[in-house]
Order: sequence, then C-alpha cells, then structure tokens
Amino acid sequence: MAKTATDRPPETASDWTIPQDWASYTPQEHAVWDVLYARQTELLQDRACAAFRQGVEHLRLSDKGIPNFEELSARLFKRTGWRVVAVPGLVPDEVFFEHLANRRFVAGRFIRKPEQLDYLQEPDVFHDLFGHVPLLSNPVFADYMQAYGEGGLKALRLNALEKLARLYWYTVEFGLIAEPEGLRLYGAGILSSFGELRFALEDSSPNRLRFNLMRVMRTHYRIDDYQQSYFVIDDFDELLHQTRDADFTPLYRELEKLPDLAPDTVIPSDRVVSRGSQKHAYRGKFQ
Ligand code: PHE
Ligand code: CO
Repeated sequence: MAKTATDRPPETASDWTIPQDWASYTPQEHAVWDVLYARQTELLQDRACAAFRQGVEHLRLSDKGIPNFEELSARLFKRTGWRVVAVPGLVPDEVFFEHLANRRFVAGRFIRKPEQLDYLQEPDVFHDLFGHVPLLSNPVFADYMQAYGEGGLKALRLNALEKLARLYWYTVEFGLIAEPEGLRLYGAGILSSFGELRFALEDSSPNRLRFNLMRVMRTHYRIDDYQQSYFVIDDFDELLHQTRDADFTPLYRELEKLPDLAPDTVIPSDRVVSRGSQKHAYRGKFQ
C-alpha cells in the first residue's frame, strides 16, 4: 500500500524524483519500446480518441527509442505547462498528488523485458509515457489532471482517498469517450494494453455506462483483470467541469452513507451505453 516518507530511497531527491539517465538505456531496451510503439499504434487506429492522436504527433512520440524526458518535457511544457519527471516506482500518495498539482507527471524510467511485451503488473515507462503523456498536451485534460492532484491532497485530509481513487481509475486509466465516429479510448491503462484496447471497445462482456461522478466513486474496480465496467464521457469539458468545479466535501459525506457497488453491477439510475454479458469476466487477460 501507500508508502511513508521514511521509505524514500537514498538516491532520490526530497520530492522522490531521480534522473532518467537516458544515456544508460541499452539498444535492447530502446528496441522493446519500438516494438511496443509500433504494435500499439497500429491497433489504436480508429480506437484512440482524437486528443491522444494529436498528442502523439505534437510530442513526436513516433521518434525511435525510449523518449528522453527532458526533450519530451520541453515539447509538453510549450503546449500545456506540464513536465515529465522520473521516479523509482510507486511513490507515496501525497508526493504523487503534489507533483500533479504542480503539473509534473511522475513516470517510471524502467522498461519491461522482451518476454513481458503483452502484460506487466507494474507500470513501466511505456505505460507511463505512451499511455498518459499524449493527453497531457490537451489543455482541458491537462487542467483536469492538475485539479485531480489538488483534489487528492484534499481527499487525503478528509480520509476519502478510496473514493477519489476510483475516479482516477475509471477516467485517467480506463476511460472511454463518445466521439462523433463512435466510442474511443482515452484511459492510459487501455491505450497501453495489448489486449484490453479491443476488449474495452468491442467485446460484449463488459458494461459501458455513461459517466456519473457519484456512481463512479461508489464503484470498486479490478486490478487483476480487464474491467467489468467502463464509463463513457461526452468530452473532456464535461469531465473537468463535473470534478474541478464541484466541492467534493459534501459528496464524500454522502458517499459514506451509500453502499459501494461491485464492478459488474448495473443500477436503475445508470445510463447504459451497452450492457455487458460478463461472459469473459475473470478470465479475459490472456485469451
Ligand atoms: N473539486 C474537487 C474537490 O473539491 C477536487 C477534484 C478536482 C477532484 C478534479 C477530482 C478532479 O475535492
Ligand atoms: Co497509469
């Protein structure tokens, strides 16, 4: 679970950052990035949302090899004032939120091994950069992430992080967006996943439900398999205004009185985009 400040590794700065040390990546490590990038880009045609595709282009993520955080940050900063900083792995919640609130996205520097191309439990530099950073070049999404960081610091004080973390999960990591051409992906956990990108959009197993803030904050999520429900926003303005412009303090109090919901539940007030069969629940990942 969350670490405390005393666990900070000695080689990290006081804000837990480390140098990316780009020069020390091996040719094999860069090659893993190139394979992942090529495969994912191909699969994401007509699946990734427009803002993601624009971000990839603006940030020149198609350049070969693992991106250099400093060069990437320079491009990103010009667009939205965000930077990418390296950390050794999981950081304490407070540190994570503090970085977000200051428009710094923390990313792991390590990359998976060639035998882990399809699935990895821990986020690596491919997930963190390819999955998360393109959208940070979108001004509205960039503001949402900063506001989320501020909201995280507040939720810590109010002892409500479990609820707020579900919002991150179902939007930043696993969100879907309704674009004029159809449903598209914006969640980093799906965009960087080999199998879930098809599952999330095309499989008949999961529920796809319209995004509703309170509903999402009541809903448990799965960390060991594909999601059983995805939540769909209309656009990033909707997401930003429903979250940044609302005071969550009374909402957290209300949530204490409402029962939590299982990840596969559909409730009468849901606006259902497509109701899932849940046929592939619990065994989606390697099929
Ligand atoms: N407005 C929220 C609050 O009052 C903070 C928040 C912003 C939470 C954006 C999530 C996303 O706590
Ligand atoms: Co992530």
